Amino acid sequence: MKITKLSMLTLAAVFFSSCYYDNLGELKPEAALTNGACDTVTAISFSAKVKPIIDANCVSCHGVSGSLPDLTTHAGISGSATLYNSIIWDGPVSNMPKGSTVKLSQCDIATIRLWKAQGSPNN
Ligand code: HEC
Repeated sequence: MKITKLSMLTLAAVFFSSCYYDNLGELKPEAALTNGACDTVTAISFSAKVKPIIDANCVSCHGVSGSLPDLTTHAGISGSATLYNSIIWDGPVSNMPKGSTVKLSQCDIATIRLWKAQGSPNN
């Protein structure tokens, strides 16, 4: 009986600890940005920080022409209501970058999240 309880506890511990989810860029974007891998940034620049991430990871498919949302402009990027959920792979929207088995880096996710939180400025 004792052994059974112990193994149940162990199983429960393994089960719950395996649920731990630690993408720093989503949980604590400020911390991810000061984590060494990212620059320490207070005000995110669209042209210097956000656009290069989108250019490198998204515009190969989301270009000026085509049926997909155009992510080559500030208006296109800031106007996309589903962009953030698509890069954190959350909710009913498609995971982006499409076909990738890994998300954008924590740093990139944090950068985009903070830029949005700052009102998506065109700076
Ligand atoms: C390999 C091509 C490809 C790449 C790279 C890509 N996308 Fe997409 N994206 C698609 C396709 C195709 C769709 C249409 C929905 C679908 O087929 O899943 C789409 C849809 C979307 C949508 C609309 C999702 C919805 O359900 O409303 C958003 C937002 C988006 N992409 C953002 C991004 C962002 C941000 C990146 C870069 C991090 C990116 N995409 C990279 C192909 C791509």
